[in-house]
Amino acid sequence: MEDIYINKASFGDDFSWGVSTAAFQTEGACSEDGKGASIWDEFTHRKGKILKGESADTACEFYLNYQRDIDLVKQMNIPNFRFSIAWSRILPQGDGEVNQAGIDHYNNVINYCLQQGVEPWLTIYHWDLPLALEKQGGWTNRNIIEWFINYVTICANSFGDRVKHWMVMNEPAVFTGAGYFLGVHAPGRTGVKNFLPAVLYASLCLAAGGKKLKEILPGSVVGTTFSCSAVEPYTSKQRDINATKRADAIINRLFIEPVMGLGYPMADVPVLEGIKKLMQPGDADALKFDFDFIGLQCYTREMVRFSLFTPYIYATLVKAEKRNVPLTQMGWEVYPPSIYQVLKRFSAYAPAKAFYITENGVAFEDQLIDGEVNDTQRVDYLQKHIGQVLKAKNEGVNVKGYFVWTLTDNFEWAEGYHPRFGLVHVDFKTQQRTIKAAGKWYANFLAGNE
Ligand code: BGC
Repeated sequence: MEDIYINKASFGDDFSWGVSTAAFQTEGACSEDGKGASIWDEFTHRKGKILKGESADTACEFYLNYQRDIDLVKQMNIPNFRFSIAWSRILPQGDGEVNQAGIDHYNNVINYCLQQGVEPWLTIYHWDLPLALEKQGGWTNRNIIEWFINYVTICANSFGDRVKHWMVMNEPAVFTGAGYFLGVHAPGRTGVKNFLPAVLYASLCLAAGGKKLKEILPGSVVGTTFSCSAVEPYTSKQRDINATKRADAIINRLFIEPVMGLGYPMADVPVLEGIKKLMQPGDADALKFDFDFIGLQCYTREMVRFSLFTPYIYATLVKAEKRNVPLTQMGWEVYPPSIYQVLKRFSAYAPAKAFYITENGVAFEDQLIDGEVNDTQRVDYLQKHIGQVLKAKNEGVNVKGYFVWTLTDNFEWAEGYHPRFGLVHVDFKTQQRTIKAAGKWYANFLAGNE
């Protein structure tokens, strides 16, 4: 991989730089001011689900003290801040009665951002489904389309006068795959009987949510975000190459292709044909939506080999630790060309207009020593990935922005607080913040000094 020189100017003035977070991973205050429980509140209190039995009851206390962290965004010269809304703060039961305190809270966060000269970018759904809806089947109940549209409508009407950039959902392949097939994320359900309806109804919500936002807020910029990775066969054996094709269909194609009007990748993963039985007249069209932008979220590369023991796809990921490659705290390979490859590849979908990297970042074992975190590895990771984004941009990909995951160390889902992804270190006992060397580097880069 060639080293690519980057500075802010080489991306142009209209390139959007930012940082991303999510409600459940940062807010804490899980039952404050009338908030209803979410599937993640429930899941994190189940035995054995989260590493070391940690919960996000406190997390980064972003709900109680959002000003402190928005001040840090400003201090690091970051012009755009992406965060998500907790559905069960707005609608404690998921549907029905609105909790005005929840609306007031997000109004305060948005207003505070704007006062600080920071542009708020909103994700409507980042995995924290109201528990009351899960009790009625959650993403496996077709009624979710109605519940979701009601929630989207309330968000658009409440915040749309000040928020210009919207993302309907965060990584549907992850919340349906990990939450409804593998059971390692909330709500902890397993098997195709849960996965297939969750996939279909999440896709229908995605498109319906986008349409609703555009209908209420015609001047807004509406996108959504997808997880994606470069996926390669572990060996040149034909059965590994075929396995890679199947894994790729699930990892990269499952959600974008229906949106683009291409349907589900059933030819490569026949089990997806089960979705046909769930489809109603009009669904094929209802899956399509012309988003203003697609957010791509890329962290690593996957290597795949054939496996007889993995039903449906007969493919397994070869762990990075077995491949003698540089590793992150998550056990993921550090492989910057992946972000270039996904940009090139996704831009080949003709209907897609524009792309943002809405998440990219890394967890390392950071050490706080004498009030400093000298995370040079993270600086290197960010520089190399941003370099690969520039390479794609220079080759004509319409990539219009880059957001680091994430602002502060936070609650990393099933992994708890152990993986530290932040530009800012958090001491979770005291809530003390320390801007890491990577945060200082990003601030300098954004000031045009690098
Ligand atoms: C998610 C984040 C998560 C990050 C790192 C993305 O899949 O959107 O919520 O913390 O990756 O795992």
